[in-house]
Amino acid sequence: KKKLKEEIYEINRLAAIFYHKCLYSRSGQAALKYLYDRGIDDVTIKRFGLGYSPNGGDELLKFLKAHKYSIDTMVNAGLISKSNNGGFYDRFRNRVMFPIIDEKNNVIGFGGRVLDNMKPKYLNTAETIVFKKGKTLYGINYAKKTKEDKFIIVEGYMDAIALYQSGIDNAVASLGTALTMEQGRLIKKYKNTVVISYDADEAGVEATMRGLNLLDELDLNVNILTIPNGKDPDEYVRKEGFDAFKKLLEKTDTLIEYKIKKYKQDLDLNNPADRIKYIKKVCKDLSTIKDKVKRDVYVSIVAKDAEIPENTIRAEIDQFVKGFV
Ligand code: UTP
Ligand code: MN
Ligand code: MN
Ligand code: MN
Ligand code: MN
Repeated sequence: KKKLKEEIYEINRLAAIFYHKCLYSRSGQAALKYLYDRGIDDVTIKRFGLGYSPNGGDELLKFLKAHKYSIDTMVNAGLISKSNNGGFYDRFRNRVMFPIIDEKNNVIGFGGRVLDNMKPKYLNTAETIVFKKGKTLYGINYAKKTKEDKFIIVEGYMDAIALYQSGIDNAVASLGTALTMEQGRLIKKYKNTVVISYDADEAGVEATMRGLNLLDELDLNVNILTIPNGKDPDEYVRKEGFDAFKKLLEKTDTLIEYKIKKYKQDLDLNNPADRIKYIKKVCKDLSTIKDKVKRDVYVSIVAKDAEIPENTIRAEIDQFVKGFV
């Protein structure tokens, strides 16, 4: 079994090299232009090993065959699929290719993006014995080595890559929105602090809420970066630049601050029932803060917001605290 894994890493690496060569060949011209149009330069392309999967249907297959790999290995790696009539064909065709590299520098799988608006926008390697999407963080191979004391968690390949292109080298992508415990544990192996910087759309906000609870449970320091105007980190940094993104990084919310903001958006504090909900929710969150000074700062904020005495808030918090012991 160990041998099979090694063989898949090897064939994946070879495929990545093939795709990368294709990007700089005739067939890859449109894909290369696509990346340039998105502001990605050759240095960044090389660093992330970006490539292009040709459209013919069996180019990779022929290439891997010429390198003496068996069809079995190609299929086990998820690079080649079996068609209904029993033939075999390249899984990735006419896509910009993103090799997915794990913390030990193994190429474990690929993401491939269409050059237009076709669906699915991104096709990823299906589960193989080395690729489990929910256990992977794109960019971890590089981000783990930076001097930064934290990771920035983004949703997509292009967010991590665009941040690097702009000079920020500690972003990892969760490859979609649903952060998993395994990904959280992987983060914790390297850093104690994370900044969640998901897309500023509904899915991103929902995923942020789930993600921050999960990361907090793992006792990571969680901060949330909110991108203005419904953008994602890629769009934002490309339009507004490095300095603007750095400013956002300096203005992140802590877990409590983010939750309080969110409750206030969802609830109408002029409505008594909502106000009660707000107080109970916040008190429960505040009860998890061990630092008394820190807690008290929020107590006074919440007391003002909800227009009730600080002592009432404190008593409510104490209830939750007692409930734990
Ligand atoms: P997004 O749709 O936000 O992707 O999905 P994006 O990176 O912003 O896309 P573009 O290239 O800028 O338009 C975030 C991530 O979710 C996963 C991919 O990992 C993607 O980077 N995803 C998204 C898929 O796996 N499949 C999809 O069809 C879409
Ligand atoms: Mn999105
Ligand atoms: Mn905790
Ligand atoms: Mn995007
Ligand atoms: Mn996005």
